[in-house]
Amino acid sequence: MKPKVFLTRKLPPKAMEYLEENTDLEMNTEDRVLTKEELIRGVKGKQGLLCLLTDNIDAEIMEANPDLKVIANFAVGFNNINVDEATKRKIPVTNTPGVLTETTADMAFALLFAVSRRVVEGDSFVRSKTWSGWGPLQMLGEDITGATLGLIGLGRIGKAMIKRAQGFDMKIIYWNRTRLDEKEERELGVEYASFEDVLSSADFISLHVAYNQATHHLISEKEFGLMKSNAYMINTTRGPVIDEKALVKALQSRIIGGAGLDVYENEPHLEPELYELENAVLAPHLGSATIGTRTKMGMMAAENLVAALKGDIPPNIVNKVIYE
Ligand code: GLV
Repeated sequence: MKPKVFLTRKLPPKAMEYLEENTDLEMNTEDRVLTKEELIRGVKGKQGLLCLLTDNIDAEIMEANPDLKVIANFAVGFNNINVDEATKRKIPVTNTPGVLTETTADMAFALLFAVSRRVVEGDSFVRSKTWSGWGPLQMLGEDITGATLGLIGLGRIGKAMIKRAQGFDMKIIYWNRTRLDEKEERELGVEYASFEDVLSSADFISLHVAYNQATHHLISEKEFGLMKSNAYMINTTRGPVIDEKALVKALQSRIIGGAGLDVYENEPHLEPELYELENAVLAPHLGSATIGTRTKMGMMAAENLVAALKGDIPPNIVNKVIYE
């Protein structure tokens, strides 16, 4: 008999086929996030849950289903799951690392370009039909080539930023909770700096730390105050790493040059002023949104789920301690 699985939203076709073949699948057939009640109802009687970063998988959901044998997240970030609670209940939690690294770094660079070269603002200007032609002082931005990129967090995605930045002759400085050894820094071509020094000397700051209690509002009023007035903040990790109210103030008063954002503190709701600010480029959480990458994420999440249901240690286990 195939294990009973609940899927909270439709995934790319290849992952759907795999799940249909290997599990007794029930899913949310509507293209929307489920409510808490719907989630609890869906998970009832299932051994497996395949969920998304928009599903808040808390103790109540686990409590409602004592048969749950695995929670497989379709994301590299897993702050939407109460992992401590799952660990207490010996439920393996899995994520999808690696497969979205390059795609997310591409998105961070897309935002970096878009905001500093005013691509979105320019597009709106042209469409407004008020553009009267080329001008020597029109819509000037900031150079990317030769600028300093400051990476806050140097995990997989942070490291993938390096190659791209080197292509634009950027100087790359980084801060990470644990410093790399000097040999690796040399090989990668990056220079370590303190958190404050990265903020105060980079022209572009890109955030690549995971979101957790320690990184909640890592960037707030004080940190924006350290940045150069023509520097840009790029965020493709998780919204609450930035204090969004402080960001609005920094953008409004031009304490910083601009921001390229893919993630927000209370998605899909933004601080209202953000919608009006021309020095912000706003993307709807598209970091991993390519057909190829979402297919790989779907397969990875589904394979993790099926492995755990077979009693194997899933390849991308987050709480390995439950097997020790
Ligand atoms: C996307 O935000 C992810 O964590 O995979």
